[in-house]
Amino acid sequence: MKILHITPEIAPWSKAGGLGDATSALAKNLAALGHEVRVATPLYGSVPGREQMGTVLDSLKVDVGGDPAKAACRVRSVDLAPTAQVWFIEHDDYYGAREIYPAREDTAERAAFFGRAALDACLQLGWIPDVIHCHDWTTGLIPVLLNTTLKSSPLGRCATVLSIHNLQHQGLLSRRILPFLRLPEWLFKPEELECLGGVNFLKGGIRHANRIITVSATYAQEILTPAFGFGLQDVVLRRQAHLDGILNGVDLDEWDAQKDKHLAKNFSAQDLAGKRACKLDLQKQFKLTDDSQAPLVGVISRLWDQKGLDLAVQALPKFLRAGRLQFVLLGSGDSWLEQEFRRLADNFPGRVGIRIGYDQALSHRIEAGCDFFLMPSRFEPCGLNQMYSMAYGTLPIVRATGGLADTVQHWNSTTHQGTGIVFQHADVGAVEWAIEQALALYARPADFVSAQKQAMREEFSWRKSAQAHVASYEKALEQR
Ligand code: ADP
Ligand code: GLC
Repeated sequence: MKILHITPEIAPWSKAGGLGDATSALAKNLAALGHEVRVATPLYGSVPGREQMGTVLDSLKVDVGGDPAKAACRVRSVDLAPTAQVWFIEHDDYYGAREIYPAREDTAERAAFFGRAALDACLQLGWIPDVIHCHDWTTGLIPVLLNTTLKSSPLGRCATVLSIHNLQHQGLLSRRILPFLRLPEWLFKPEELECLGGVNFLKGGIRHANRIITVSATYAQEILTPAFGFGLQDVVLRRQAHLDGILNGVDLDEWDAQKDKHLAKNFSAQDLAGKRACKLDLQKQFKLTDDSQAPLVGVISRLWDQKGLDLAVQALPKFLRAGRLQFVLLGSGDSWLEQEFRRLADNFPGRVGIRIGYDQALSHRIEAGCDFFLMPSRFEPCGLNQMYSMAYGTLPIVRATGGLADTVQHWNSTTHQGTGIVFQHADVGAVEWAIEQALALYARPADFVSAQKQAMREEFSWRKSAQAHVASYEKALEQR
């Protein structure tokens, strides 16, 4: 198949969270299955190496309304795999700044432009995909365009697929986007794109894509309910027959404890000795008391409401005061929560280490050096860090939601089966309970090592995920 992905993030060039990891690994694995893949994405100011990139189209006139002087862009490219290329849409007015999601006056046009540019690039090059796979809200109006304005173009026969990586972010923006994208005004009604007086990008995608994918089976069920639907549950419900839940995976090029270059020492399930060196290295880096007996709990996360870390910051002092664990966190986000974690470090010197910011190398060392990894998410469409943790023998402590529920098996002390600690409720008491369970497991070294090995043996394969995506594409092709 010829498959075009349209995405605002692709690692290693641009990544705000797991979306970047997911699109990159999926594209590579689809190529490995023999498909021809293109990934269209903006060329942000922060993308390294633009001078070395090839040029696919030097000047592409994109069919958008608005200021004609702003309608042209360049398309550059980089090979991701032998049959997969990334097309970077270069337009400095829209994407020249470093941020992926800045707050700007022209957010709607900026979100819509690169997708429309990708379609025009296909038309200009005569490269007509079988499947156009859109990711998250910025690309939500692409299936709408293909179903209306572009229906009779050579692209009108493409099957469209929309992946929902996170239903909370929908792109509720001004209706001026309709003339900008040359979409018909009749779409501005509640059964279509209208929502609270604006245009809802993601709603458009959910209504118009031939097939919808979410990133875990449990999240595919959750988004049908008011608690997880963020107001779009009824729109999703109407498309339930066309909805697939497909889990992400672990990219072994990036996350392999036996080869990871960021680690003090490599290790494997057969030989965990190197993991101890990674723990000592991490304790040193965070200036923690170097106590190999103390259980070390880690977090790497955006500090947002979704992630439930406000619950963690309330649950932890009880354990820290009693000297029962050490804690490290890498992340950034809500400033009040950053403040709370900084205060925790001040209150427990030598036991808590906090790094506010983004640091890829450190994220690998945390995954390798910790005993436990905490994810008390209120909702989690898939979640990648719990899978990276398991691959590194670091037991995840997670709330039973979305992809966390689908990937972590609660330790059962009767059967001696399990890969982590799973709790049910998003409240402080439940997080405390889960930490107690983790400490009890840690206090039984034979059980703890057994759980580590079971976790490391789990296979979260991107190949399997790519195959499931192909099955979904085939259904989309039948339905177009
Ligand atoms: P989400 O996409 O909702 O943030 P995921 O678990 O899917 O959650 O993916 C988060 C990704 O971003 C992981 O690869 C994680 O390691 C990475 N990440 C998050 N915060 C940081 C940070 N501060 N520094 C380095 N990597 C980070
Ligand atoms: C979103 C979700 C996260 C998921 C990621 C990749 O950012 O919040 O759970 O793992 O997308 O699909």
